[in-house]
Amino acid sequence: MLETVTATRFAVPLREGGSLPGLVEADDLGMYVVKFRGAGQGVKVLIAEVLVGELARVLGVPVPRLVVVDLPRDIARYEADEEVQDLLTASVGTNLGLDYLPGSFGYDGSRPATAEQAAPIVWLDAFTANIDRTWANPNLLVWGGRPWVIDHGAAVYFHHGWGRRAPDAQRFADQPFDRSDHVLGDLVDDLGGTHERLAALLDDATLEQVVSLVPDEWLETSEHLPSPAATRAAYLEHLIARRDRPAAWLTGGDR
Ligand SMILES: Nc1ncnc2c1ncn2[C@@H]1O[C@H](COP(=O)(O)OP(=O)(O)OP(=O)(O)O)[C@@H](O)[C@H]1O
Ligand SMILES: [Mg+2]
Repeated sequence: MLETVTATRFAVPLREGGSLPGLVEADDLGMYVVKFRGAGQGVKVLIAEVLVGELARVLGVPVPRLVVVDLPRDIARYEADEEVQDLLTASVGTNLGLDYLPGSFGYDGSRPATAEQAAPIVWLDAFTANIDRTWANPNLLVWGGRPWVIDHGAAVYFHHGWGRRAPDAQRFADQPFDRSDHVLGDLVDDLGGTHERLAALLDDATLEQVVSLVPDEWLETSEHLPSPAATRAAYLEHLIARRDRPAAWLTGGDR
């Protein structure tokens, strides 16, 4: 389970974020960047954040600690900004929090990543089909001289189709990934060696452990996925299938 904290104060919206994440203080006195369940694409985006963030952690890619942030109703009630108040009201209950990295700055190439730092990040994005790490939107923070990955809501997009059709893990496994626009794409060559090393870290039990971190109540059911357990199993099946069939996604955009 991810640790749960309770929000005690909404500090400030992070306006540059498309989904209006906010900086929130919690009952452990920590400051968290919160991705709200009431924003945009809803709770599936939070699931993608948990899956990719925790995969990053297993792979040794720096990523802020993730927590579940429980948002009490009265925090929404006393918010003056109407847009923020609507978002908070729609988000009462469990949300996703990332440890705030004080003094970090957005990756701009002034502190370029090394090839050793870049390869696992590019591999992770190819594996999870995360197209959201380009120069236009790097979604990397530089902190302590190293790049940290954030913002994974666009990855594992296959779940957005689950209301309409049956899950199809092989289809996801065979989706190519074009890394020519990736912000770190120029720093990596062939990913074959990286794949050998990193896929071995993601054995079935480890993937199951990562998938188990998604809170039950975020797992939406559908005609084809009648229970949270079935939905959880579908995530695991997709990750296993893609890990085991890298032919389509490993080579796209090779230099
Ligand atoms: N853990 C963190 N510590 C410090 N700042 C953060 C952290 N997470 C996010 N931020 C800041 O908040 C901004 C928005 O975060 P994020 O990219 O996750 O949100 P988003 O709404 O999905 O963004 P967008 O759609 O614009 O890419 C980041 O660009 C960064 O400046
Ligand atoms: Mg972003």
